[in-house]
Amino acid sequence: MSQPTIESILQENRTFAPSAEFSAQAAVKSFDEYKALYDRAAADPVAFWEALAKTELHWFKPWTQALDWSNPPFAKWFVNGKTNLSYNCLDRHLESQGDKPAIIWEGEPGDSVTLTYRELHQQVCQFANVLKKMGVQKGDRVGIYMPMIPEAAVAMLACARIGAVHGVVFGGFSAEALRDRLVDAAAKVVITADGGWRKDAIVPLKPAVDAAIANGQTQVTTVIVAKRTAQEVTMVEGRDHWWHDLAATVNSDCPAAELDAEDNLFVLYTSGSTGKPKGVVHTTGGYNLYAHMTCKWIFDLQANDVFWCTADVGWITGHSYVVYGPLSNGATSVMYEGAPRPSNPGAFWDVIDKHKVSIFYTAPTAIRAFIKMGDDHPKSRDLSSLRLLGTVGEPINPEAWMWYHTVIGKERCPIVDTWWQTETGGIMITPLPGAIPTKPGSATLPFPGILADVVDMDGNSVPANEGGYLAVRHPWPGMMRTVYGDDDRFRKTYWEHIAPVDGKYLYFAGDGARRDEDGYFWVMGRVDDVINVAGHRLGTMEIESALVSHPAVAEAAVVGKPDDLKGEEIVAFVTLEGTYTASDELMKELKKHVVGEIGAIARPGEIRFADALPKTRSGKIMRRLLRALAAGQEVSGDTSTLEDMSVLEKLRG
Ligand code: PRX
Repeated sequence: MSQPTIESILQENRTFAPSAEFSAQAAVKSFDEYKALYDRAAADPVAFWEALAKTELHWFKPWTQALDWSNPPFAKWFVNGKTNLSYNCLDRHLESQGDKPAIIWEGEPGDSVTLTYRELHQQVCQFANVLKKMGVQKGDRVGIYMPMIPEAAVAMLACARIGAVHGVVFGGFSAEALRDRLVDAAAKVVITADGGWRKDAIVPLKPAVDAAIANGQTQVTTVIVAKRTAQEVTMVEGRDHWWHDLAATVNSDCPAAELDAEDNLFVLYTSGSTGKPKGVVHTTGGYNLYAHMTCKWIFDLQANDVFWCTADVGWITGHSYVVYGPLSNGATSVMYEGAPRPSNPGAFWDVIDKHKVSIFYTAPTAIRAFIKMGDDHPKSRDLSSLRLLGTVGEPINPEAWMWYHTVIGKERCPIVDTWWQTETGGIMITPLPGAIPTKPGSATLPFPGILADVVDMDGNSVPANEGGYLAVRHPWPGMMRTVYGDDDRFRKTYWEHIAPVDGKYLYFAGDGARRDEDGYFWVMGRVDDVINVAGHRLGTMEIESALVSHPAVAEAAVVGKPDDLKGEEIVAFVTLEGTYTASDELMKELKKHVVGEIGAIARPGEIRFADALPKTRSGKIMRRLLRALAAGQEVSGDTSTLEDMSVLEKLRG
């Protein structure tokens, strides 16, 4: 990778301190307290995590070594320790708070279900017995392709209970994308639903599972179907089973398996700059501790909080902050099936009003959409239950931050802007809300125990206010352990971009950032070919491959273009095979083709037909030039490596 010049242009000087009342009741009450905690953790991160693992989680058997980092970058946390994530999320809360709501679920049509800890435990045990009955064993991979219904959380927790490895695939992904992931993970069982509700319509899921399995590439022999929307679905005899039929055949007595701290917990696919999506592997004990501690301190969980993270369980945010983090802490987690939609643009505010949500965690792209829908919607609902707000997924522009602060938070609720990734397992850079004054647009400071930095290619810290690469200098419990089936890709993608310093490996996050004079982090976006559309990562390669798989396309290059709502929009430059000519119809067809190959989130906003793409003499597409063209900017910088200058002229057109 060449070293791009990273320029930081954002200047934002406002700071917002939490109120004295908020700080007084918070877990970490002042900046000095945070600083002392941070410094203590930084001096000995392993001892810091070890002490928390002892007091915060249940272990069937203690570990013999807190961190094994003898074979970097392959970390092992809590070596030989035995635990169970589902036990930590359920069983240990039964005695003290069995009747407390664990999940408050709201369906889009307005139906809702509350599951207490006791009820959720019962359902998880029962479904774990279903999985066992269907032959699922420890270590087996189980695909989960579901809408946001309680069964999705039940399925995840049931896998965790018996040591099966879940691979949740976002329900918005296409059959093709689902197939790729099932094949890569060699899953034998898929859990799905007939469909789900989204924007006043049924999104069918079962047909996509059928199509994913159809050509025989997957190893799936069992499909379990939860009934949600009750539309007609085809059931294949011997392969497909209704969830409720199977559940009726088993009891709900299923002790949690004593699993190794390093047993695989889940595989979650995420886009990279090259090749197919990577299966990010997380393991049991370290992930549990990290999701638990970050959820506890960053969202300042108190006994009566109602916590709503709006993410889908198909993303890491849904794993760590809809299911595992809140439940491990014994908190009440809200799960919402739907989305704001023309028939109810105030749908989210209704959920907050109805369920008296006190902590609300969403994405900047959603906040920008709320701004567009107008202030009347939030203003006409009672949002007085809110006490803390959060954002995740992309840098939040200060205007959106200010709107969130005034219109939703009524200038009363601290905002935690949380930076992290699928790979990190949990939040890494964030305010602790009672302790750290915020600056709109900055994720502020690292969580205790996280040695984050902004560095150059040699791993040296860059001076304040200079751009560099976001990196982490020490392993942490929630870190990914490898890329599923591809240790080499893990090493190369995350640990070899920046040279190890004195034999010490640095984790390379793929983001550019700067730290200001107060040490606050300002994340500037990806430095690789990953586009962030509405807070979701898409690799340019994946979209290009999807385009090229259409017979009309000879070559394709995809770049991101700044977008007011989604952060970035996809722009594709396409050259055609000889017999095809550019037309609006073909453009529509290509967009549809990409949706079919990957899913609606990857639909290009714009497709530009070109005679040729700008390339270097060695044949590399010069994306920098395409990015400038897509954004309507002047192409600046060095173009001397461009093979054919006339290509650029034509593209400028
Ligand atoms: O570029 C960063 C951006 O999202 C990437 C991680 O994407 P993903 O693995 O899909 O996880 C999203 C939810 C954790 C990062 O590399 N990103 C995430 N949060 C922020 C952010 N950029 C700036 N500020 C954030 N708060």
